[in-house]
Amino acid sequence: MIKKLILLSVLGCMTQFSFAQKKTPVYLDDSKPVEQRIEDALSRMTLEEKINIIHAQSKFSSHGVPRLGIPELWTADGPHGVRSEVLWDEWDQAGWTNDSIIAYPALTALSATWNRNMSSIYGKSLGEEARYRGKDVILGPGVNIYRTPLNGRNFEYMGEDPFLTSQMVVPYIKGVQANGVATSVKHFALNNQETFRHSSNVILDDRALYEIYLPPFKAAVQEGDSWTIMGAYDLYKGQHASHNQYLLNDILKGEWGYKGVVVSDWGAVLDTDQAIHNGLDLEFGTWTNGLSKGTSNAYENYYLAKPYLDLIKSGKVGTKELDDKVRRVLGLAYKTSMNKNKPFGSIASEEHIAAAKQIASEGIVLLQNQKATLPINLSKTKKIAVIGENAIKMMTVGGGSSSLKVKYETLPLDGIKERFGKQTEVVYARGYVGDVGGDYNGVKSGQNLKETRSSAELIAEAVKLAKESDFVVFVGGLNKSDHQDAEGMDRESYGLPYDQDKLISELSKANKNLAVVLVSGNAVAMPWIKEVPSVLQSWYLGSESGHAIAAVLAGDANPSGKLPFSFPVKLEDNSAHALGEYPGNKAELAAGKGKDLKDPINITYNEGIFVGYRWHDTKNIKPLFSFGHGLSYTTFEYGKVKADKSELTANDKITFTVNVKNTGKMNGAEVVQLYISDLKSSLPRPLKELKGFDKVYLKAGESKDVSITIDKSALSFFDPAKHDWVAEPGDFEALIGSSSSDIRTKIKFTLK
Ligand code: GLC
Repeated sequence: MIKKLILLSVLGCMTQFSFAQKKTPVYLDDSKPVEQRIEDALSRMTLEEKINIIHAQSKFSSHGVPRLGIPELWTADGPHGVRSEVLWDEWDQAGWTNDSIIAYPALTALSATWNRNMSSIYGKSLGEEARYRGKDVILGPGVNIYRTPLNGRNFEYMGEDPFLTSQMVVPYIKGVQANGVATSVKHFALNNQETFRHSSNVILDDRALYEIYLPPFKAAVQEGDSWTIMGAYDLYKGQHASHNQYLLNDILKGEWGYKGVVVSDWGAVLDTDQAIHNGLDLEFGTWTNGLSKGTSNAYENYYLAKPYLDLIKSGKVGTKELDDKVRRVLGLAYKTSMNKNKPFGSIASEEHIAAAKQIASEGIVLLQNQKATLPINLSKTKKIAVIGENAIKMMTVGGGSSSLKVKYETLPLDGIKERFGKQTEVVYARGYVGDVGGDYNGVKSGQNLKETRSSAELIAEAVKLAKESDFVVFVGGLNKSDHQDAEGMDRESYGLPYDQDKLISELSKANKNLAVVLVSGNAVAMPWIKEVPSVLQSWYLGSESGHAIAAVLAGDANPSGKLPFSFPVKLEDNSAHALGEYPGNKAELAAGKGKDLKDPINITYNEGIFVGYRWHDTKNIKPLFSFGHGLSYTTFEYGKVKADKSELTANDKITFTVNVKNTGKMNGAEVVQLYISDLKSSLPRPLKELKGFDKVYLKAGESKDVSITIDKSALSFFDPAKHDWVAEPGDFEALIGSSSSDIRTKIKFTLK
């Protein structure tokens, strides 16, 4: 008995001891408030460990604290899908066999849906794939405003209007972050072109900055709660954006109260002192000392690594800034890598595939459709000729850091054969040769697009086929190869490359039943627009491209997309090209500035707030196709707009209601757009600005009331003198329509 008692008491102390030893420390205790856990972790970390977690350890990951069991942070590109695993310190893919994913449509397509639910579904799907791939941060979405049709990365962004971009980016962020994966909204800020992206100093007035270029980031922070923001390469007020007193400390963390993490763009950090003091929290992608290229695995040479540690140890700088950075990075860790409640994610699920197809189908924009040439009438069509290289070229590989390694990509020709092949003969001719490449960072498309025939032979073959067919679908556009919608290099002209204009013109002579499908992420010139009955703007649509294009051609999907940016007739009709500067100050360009990031070139945004339709409307320059334009296979009739009040005070809201009826024979969806015009203002304002929209689905013959509510923020402009938003009392007009140039009904009201 006594033995048993002794044994029990020994056991008891052991468990007591082991229990005492096992007491969960605060920083690891989920039941404690996160602020306490951050402070506890901070108090346990050595100086070296603090320095470590604010810079990269590999191409796409940053240190954790192994001694304390604080995990590393793993990031991955990009906005349209999860980039394949790369080698530790390389851009090249690592050759894993478990990292192929679904490519979702480019963000221009998402924006073109004007459907916030699509944005939600997009974020959820992408977040689930990133989670399953074990990523804590997805390096996207990009929300830089479309200032020029030549910008190489417009396809990754959401168009020319700050309100549309703000509305569409928020659900995406929430969808991703619900998976314990942070978004990294980029590129903050003013990275509106790729030419001189590392070496240009952007000059613009505060109205343009606050009214046009900042709103999407402000929405991402204040409504989307994006856990990280990515600094840009370019300079603003002479400081590189990834360590910029004005953008990061004064605006982002000051005016907007941002508590998240600012990560640099890859290789955007160039100076330790600025990196310490100007708002940067986490350094990635630096080429060692930032001057000499390429010493690999030199992460200790990062600006926020040994150089920073040495400054602290020598007493030249304190640890106040360091602790702030570490607190922010730990806060990010608790939401991601240390978040025990995050789901497991999934890859290429049925939902993901359905999402990719739905977003793509809703994003395609029907620009023109004379004589109801589309949808293809199968009772009169026995043979379809598909012409053009973009019908067979993979678009998910290439274009820069958003390039992907996909489970599959249904190409337009495949989709058309799959959809029409049973009832009709589908024949193909290449028509032109564009880019025969298909390899990005070691991810290969596997396509052999080599061609030996001459351009004349290719055109002759295509025209012959067109003559012999009942319907012709031309699939062309751009292709994410160099200077054709690609990161790091802008387009060099506004027209279609590879002589496509000539081919389209020939095809229109050969067969009047012609639909041109443009695969691109930018506006292009269309000299043949009067010769072609139907034109579809089809974006880089990702894995489900072919299925979405075929569904629209067949009328299975009634197109409901609207343009997220204007299509000027010619480049000079775009304000950045009419007023400059692009690609930079002329004299400095001539003097060779901008070639070296140590010798930046200035770019002045002379057009100020008059970007896109704000320019076209105010200067009465008719675009080829307007912002917000998009046709349907059915028609919609708008009733007279009513307002729930004729005047509002500063704290009121006002609701506009309009009845919309589907007066055609097909079910469809219409995006009802609300623009606000300030009839008298103390400062110049655009003729009208988008301040509301709602997508309504209507069966043939069905009608619904659509209501849009705004408050005084929708009436305000940024007053630089007050450095604040101002809604001036007076008369306004609400204009409601099917596009920025197709206003159907309007009503005056007064702000008291
Ligand atoms: C690139 C891009 C950025 C990308 C990052 C990592 O230079 O500017 O969008 O996320 O580096 O690839």
